[in-house]
Amino acid sequence: MQHKIMIEKKDGEILVGMLHETGSNGIVIACHGFLCTKDQPIIVNLAMALENEGISVFRFDFTGNGESDGSFQYGNYYKEVEDIRAVIKYFSGVNRKIISILGHSKGANVVLLYASKYHDVDLVVNVSGRYYLDRGIEVRLGANFMERIKNNGFIDFTNQGETLSFFAK
Ligand SMILES: *[C@@H]1O[C@H](CO)[C@@H](O)[C@H](O)[C@H]1NC(C)=O
Repeated sequence: MQHKIMIEKKDGEILVGMLHETGSNGIVIACHGFLCTKDQPIIVNLAMALENEGISVFRFDFTGNGESDGSFQYGNYYKEVEDIRAVIKYFSGVNRKIISILGHSKGANVVLLYASKYHDVDLVVNVSGRYYLDRGIEVRLGANFMERIKNNGFIDFTNQGETLSFFAK
């Protein structure tokens, strides 16, 4: 059984996620990667596979992605760590045990950072964590993206049919 859950963060913004409820007390938190959402096939497939094993899973959109509040930001690893914190606090508050945090791609880097900061989840799953950060971004943002951001203060690009802007801070 799946149902949507909204979790309010400390700053009042809402994170939206989908709970695959099997009735297990233990729950796995699944985290998507860069320019992705909780509905990306790899995240959904992993959630379904765990659900089929009787394990509850919560997959959610990070701030500024998918259905969650906030505007999209580039990088913001520690903001995403705090998103996970809010999710874990929510589920601990309703007496669920967090058995694992699982992340894909950039989400894997974020769950590793989370674990190094908070030390309260025993099992951290790194699915294709990013390790060679020089590559991959240009494919999505276009050639010379850093130069264009510097010159114009922003760049526009298209992601899955949606136009997004990155602004320099
Ligand atoms: C996470 O996975 C990547 C491969 O995708 C690997 O390079 C990296 O070392 C892993 N990190 C840890 C802490 O195991």
